[in-house]
Amino acid sequence: MTEPVDRLPQTRKTYDSAVFEHPDAAPLDLLRQWYDEAADHVREPNAMTVSTLDEWGPSSRIVLLKGLDERGLLFFTDYDSAKGRQLQADPRIAVNFPWQDMERQVRIRGLAEVAAPEDSDAYFAVRPRGSQIGATVSKQSQPVTSREQMQTEYDAAAAELEGRDVPRPDHWGGFRVRVFEIEFWQGQQNRFHDRWVFRRADGGHDVADLDDASAWEVVRLYP
Ligand SMILES: Cc1cc2nc3c(=O)[nH]c(=O)nc-3n(C[C@H](O)[C@H](O)[C@H](O)COP(=O)(O)O)c2cc1C
Repeated sequence: MTEPVDRLPQTRKTYDSAVFEHPDAAPLDLLRQWYDEAADHVREPNAMTVSTLDEWGPSSRIVLLKGLDERGLLFFTDYDSAKGRQLQADPRIAVNFPWQDMERQVRIRGLAEVAAPEDSDAYFAVRPRGSQIGATVSKQSQPVTSREQMQTEYDAAAAELEGRDVPRPDHWGGFRVRVFEIEFWQGQQNRFHDRWVFRRADGGHDVADLDDASAWEVVRLYP
């Protein structure tokens, strides 16, 4: 059984994975491989923590990964939410996949770009209708007086949109996380974990395609 909160110093799991040797794949291949392995063991493998910045410092929340290719990671949100506004003012972003059930995490640093409208349209169109209406009505991260208020607004929108497709609202869409650093972490015995970080081969911090092997060098880090 997991220890209760008053036994935090005694709460620990031991890790005992196969040694994670020098990866010879490009970061995209390795991330795809780890994602597919997580998909067999983790309840929501596409849940990732994203951290953004404003004048007061960083803040973090979970969003769902909805696309992955050489350009980076795609997720969807409200552009007027706290994170949406923060990213449009300062695109610096960090992402973490907490795949503890695999004794793994993946850490990413990069820059967020507003996704192409066609990409947002395409994903919005396949969302369940209830989610489409919810996104239309929600003013994410703004105060609301009550749950009843939200429901009243939802019901009004649902009635108004009855019998027709829900158009994607302008305030809702994707961000694509372009990457300049990505670390793969595998837990090991004695807290002597394996860490391999892909950094830009030229020593810089410009984002690069994840399938471009020449753009990356991989370095082992002390745990
Ligand atoms: C498992 C999980 C998945 C979530 N997925 C999303 C998502 O894909 N997009 C989103 O905007 N919020 C998602 N949320 C809600 C966010 O964590 C957050 O509460 C919301 O986006 C407001 O964040 P902000 O005020 O920092 O902008 C998810 C929450 C959880 C727990």
